[in-house]
Amino acid sequence: VIETIDAARRAIHALRKERRKGESASRVGFVPTMGYLHEGHASLIQKARVENEIVAVSIFVNPLQFGPNEDLARYPRSPKEDQTLCESLGVDVLFTPSVEAMYGHDEVFTRVHVDRLGDHLCGASRPGHFDGVCTVVSKLFHIIEPDAAYFGQKDAQQLRIIEQMVQDLSLPIEIVPCPIVREQDGLAKSSRNAYLSPAERKIAPEIYRTLQMIKKQIEEGEHRVLHLQREAIDRLQQFPGFKVDYLSFVDAKTLTPVDYIDTDRKILLAVAVYVGSTRLIDNVFIT
Ligand code: PAJ
Repeated sequence: VIETIDAARRAIHALRKERRKGESASRVGFVPTMGYLHEGHASLIQKARVENEIVAVSIFVNPLQFGPNEDLARYPRSPKEDQTLCESLGVDVLFTPSVEAMYGHDEVFTRVHVDRLGDHLCGASRPGHFDGVCTVVSKLFHIIEPDAAYFGQKDAQQLRIIEQMVQDLSLPIEIVPCPIVREQDGLAKSSRNAYLSPAERKIAPEIYRTLQMIKKQIEEGEHRVLHLQREAIDRLQQFPGFKVDYLSFVDAKTLTPVDYIDTDRKILLAVAVYVGSTRLIDNVFIT
């Protein structure tokens, strides 16, 4: 468990040396997280473990990606359990810097901004969020210098933005997408599920159920986006405490809204719903 940037660099360099396999360099797989780890995070770590000689995980609740009225102060934390899980999954380096270790005492003047891809979906309701994500992920990439980094499809817009950032900045890092891990009843696993009351938790699976219903309607031939959208939002908002932030059909590459389901291109159906005061997201590919 390492808490400073310098020590993290030294640990990775030492491990790289130690685990060289003859002439071929050892690969570092990296999983950035904000902690309160669950099986979704574990699936990324397991994949990284299989594909690399060295596995690094970071736990850092990044203030830069939270808006002024968001849940930074009450974001759930479980450092002990997280460490035990990482040990059991064979993680080599667990990087858990403090805010001060990452950003120092001074104001941050430099941020990484990805153009346009952050305009819709979560970017529209969380201004500056993806700049905060890109900035911290770039910093972490410079510290860990991984060969591959693992991201969940759960945060589809984040994954797409990181892929673009790596391409645009010529970072020599393979971005590995990982499928969404769900609870038995279909609810996408999330650290924020911990905020749900028992009653909210009971109806939260209706989010995924609605996505599946729309997908089925499309397979049966309904291709009018407005119609599908209206029906889905109406269905969701019938549940007590549900308020739809967005429910959008977007081009999976550009993340811009589509107005017709065109089976030639890859389309993502993404949703954000307030269940009480908890904002949950989910998504499915429909083509
Ligand atoms: P966090 O929400 O902790 O998620 C860390 C990684 O786990 C992300 O890549 C996310 O997509 C993935 N993940 C979360 N729930 C998942 C699930 N149910 N199935 C599959 N993967 C899942 O995303 C962040 O942290 C931060 O924005 C971060 C990238 C660490 C930058 O601060």
